[in-house]
Amino acid sequence: MYRNHTCGELRIADCGKEVVLAGWVQRTRKMGGMIFVDLRDRYGITQLVFDDNTDSDLCAQAGRLGREFVIQVIGVVSERSNKNPKMPTGDIEIMVKTLNIINSALTPPFTIEDDSDGGDDIRMKYRYLDLRRSCVRRNLELRHNMVMEIRKFLDNRSFIEVETPILINSTPEGARDFVVPSRMNPGQFYALPQSPQILKQLLMVSGFDRYFQIAKCFRDEDLRADRQPEFTQIDCEMSFVEQEDILEVFEALAKHLFKNILGIEMNEPFMRMTWHDAMKYYGSDKPDLRFDMRFVELMDIMKGHGFSVFDSSAYIGGICAKGAAVYTRKQIDQLTEYVKRPQIGGKGLVYARVEADGSVKSSVDKFFNQDVLQKLKAAFCAVPGDLILIMCGDDAMKTRKQLSELRLEVARQLGLRDKSKFKCLWVVDFPMYEWSDEENRLMAMHHPFTSPKTEDVPLLDTDPASVRANAYDMVINGIEVGGGSIRIHDSSLQATIFRILGFTQEEAQQKFGFLMNAFKYGAPPHGGLAFGLDRLVSIFAGLDSIRDCIAFPKNNSGRDVMLDAPGPLDQLQLEELQIKVDVKG
Ligand code: AMO
Repeated sequence: MYRNHTCGELRIADCGKEVVLAGWVQRTRKMGGMIFVDLRDRYGITQLVFDDNTDSDLCAQAGRLGREFVIQVIGVVSERSNKNPKMPTGDIEIMVKTLNIINSALTPPFTIEDDSDGGDDIRMKYRYLDLRRSCVRRNLELRHNMVMEIRKFLDNRSFIEVETPILINSTPEGARDFVVPSRMNPGQFYALPQSPQILKQLLMVSGFDRYFQIAKCFRDEDLRADRQPEFTQIDCEMSFVEQEDILEVFEALAKHLFKNILGIEMNEPFMRMTWHDAMKYYGSDKPDLRFDMRFVELMDIMKGHGFSVFDSSAYIGGICAKGAAVYTRKQIDQLTEYVKRPQIGGKGLVYARVEADGSVKSSVDKFFNQDVLQKLKAAFCAVPGDLILIMCGDDAMKTRKQLSELRLEVARQLGLRDKSKFKCLWVVDFPMYEWSDEENRLMAMHHPFTSPKTEDVPLLDTDPASVRANAYDMVINGIEVGGGSIRIHDSSLQATIFRILGFTQEEAQQKFGFLMNAFKYGAPPHGGLAFGLDRLVSIFAGLDSIRDCIAFPKNNSGRDVMLDAPGPLDQLQLEELQIKVDVKG
């Protein structure tokens, strides 16, 4: 038997017991004639003591132990004279009688401690060592606990878990596909699923009624802190439902997780906001509502006073940062530089400070008299100590998005994006379509299987851009954690939508014929949602990047630096696949 206890479980009540432990050497310390070793496993750390006075051979053997050696010891649990209240096992130590060195270890390239000295690249290269750090392991334990709670919740609500294939055809979710060549079908390729969207809809046609899957999804898109090329969805679909039914079930699931994982009771219904309001007041379809700082439109107040930048702008809007009048000129200049960064693209920033006497001092005082500035103050209900920040531009939507970046940055600086607070929101009534400059056509904002609002169906042919969809996103702390829609279940409406999206009848038939055919064999009304599991876990864990809750993530260039993937294929494999590689540039 390698062990009869773990390194996290022995307590004062176990004193006197002879135990067998196994694990990794976290560190060793020599003090006088004693050697202390911290022995670590997944469950914790237990202190081992080797006493030169009792057994000098054994102590000499312990002196040869290095970090990360794998050892087994037999010893007696005894009370520590120098207790460590920070450790669950801190009241006891093991007086070792026998030491068995199971495996030696090279010195790790970084210290396996929570505060590691290893940079990101080296830790990813040796991810199996990084995963030994308790702070990283805890994230995966949290992920496991969340998945268990999710399965329990959905099982209780009659959802059944069905696996769908990974080798499929392109599913249109708006990103590029990862493709896999087929040896048996030369010149043909599978695509990895961007999501199991069509398959789960077909399961509804099959009568499964309530489906879920912890599904791996693959999207070849630019990576960010909240995006990985392969990620996991909690993918769900339900039959005979309307939007309200779906929101009820998945709001309950989110509340179940908050309660059972974090001990947070959320009794109030989640706030709901239309996409239109989210864009108008926060410049984002995923506003962070842990703080308000909503936009106020200022065209009426600020235009026509001779300040040409404003006078020539279609949109002028601002935010009020409570208590930020203390910002120095330098800090405001830095904010101006921030909004002018190419990724944001703002033209600049105008500020107005509410002074202690209630007067308003602005960066463009020469154009605006105190009367106008007082109107500005009133528009924000600003009080002394507040700082109003204003942006303008030719395109309202673009300027709102820029103002949204400013809002988030100011909130970050003011400490309003507190990770221990959670604000959940449903964004509803998304538009069906958005214009794509790249493709020069309307694209489905969610995906082409999303149904239009019944009252907007007559607009499909006359004014498609104004048609609203039965689509919704769940947003927590400014992050889109889930999204879904009520689907089309009528083959002729589905054909109309494909037509508006620019597919010819033949293209639609070739790509989605099986789905439209399936709808002809009795399709129930259905709808669903998919949560991004990685995002959900990282919010619960308070992480900045979803990478930290994924065991073996990719870096920002989409590489797994540990496996050194992707890599070239050898010639034989290429020949079997009948593929010639011609890398340009
Ligand atoms: P959507 O594309 O909105 O919907 O994806 C659902 C959720 O998946 C997460 N997500 C990601 N997480 C990490 N890395 C990525 N690259 C990534 N892309 C998306 C987000 C998002 O809210 N089939 C539809 C769902 C449906 O309609 O039922 C879909 O995939 O948290």
